[in-house]
Amino acid sequence: MADDRLIVALDVHSMEDMQALVEQLGNSVSYYKVGMELFYRAGANALSYLHEKNKRIFLDLKLHDIPNTVAEGLCSLAALHADMMNVHALGGYEMMKTAVQKVREHAGRANIPAPKLIAVTILTSISSDTWQEMGFSQKISDEVLRLALLAKKAGMDGVVASPQEASIIRAECGSDFLIVTPGIRPAGANIDDQSRIATPAAALKNGATHLVIGRPIRAAANPKAAAEAILHEMERA
Ligand code: C5P
Repeated sequence: MADDRLIVALDVHSMEDMQALVEQLGNSVSYYKVGMELFYRAGANALSYLHEKNKRIFLDLKLHDIPNTVAEGLCSLAALHADMMNVHALGGYEMMKTAVQKVREHAGRANIPAPKLIAVTILTSISSDTWQEMGFSQKISDEVLRLALLAKKAGMDGVVASPQEASIIRAECGSDFLIVTPGIRPAGANIDDQSRIATPAAALKNGATHLVIGRPIRAAANPKAAAEAILHEMERA
């Protein structure tokens, strides 16, 4: 089902703006991403609202710290009804492994469903020039694959990666590994600050399980029509 696989990014600053967008998209969209922009302002209220509306939630806070701090932070967040949460794979193997173990133990003790945990590989906004400027010389796609394999070994449920890297991750990490891809732009859409992008159909064909899409829907003259056009493209793909 395409609508289980489209995640609309609620990159807005207030509850009011979030509610307006969710109302506008109505039954067309059932999965939303709450990121830093909204969570730092509205906190748990944003997730409670979506949970009450029976929407699925990806809490995208990209935790990156020492293993104990990340794991305990995730345990604090686990009560907020998110279906999926994430950390940076660059936090390393121990960080990811500790996160998986502690969150599962915590969910078991609290008798709540354990959220899926995924690892951000390399941000989709990083271009080869930016990558070199940061001091790295290997290919971005090689590093993305290395981090995806490390995430899998640590027990993570999947990764966030660019749609351009989804096919190598799918080939190496197996069929049940989640591949969540931002950097989605329908043909002809504004690229904004993204770099390693693909269309919704190409991302699915490359093996993405979930597409995270923000501005192409949020900034459209008619967000509901934009979401439905994307869902239609996904169904055809
Ligand atoms: O507006 P746009 O479709 O570019 O939004 C993409 C969303 O995905 C943003 O909320 C951004 O934070 C998120 N994201 C990303 N690249 C990653 C991880 C998350 O663009 N690697």
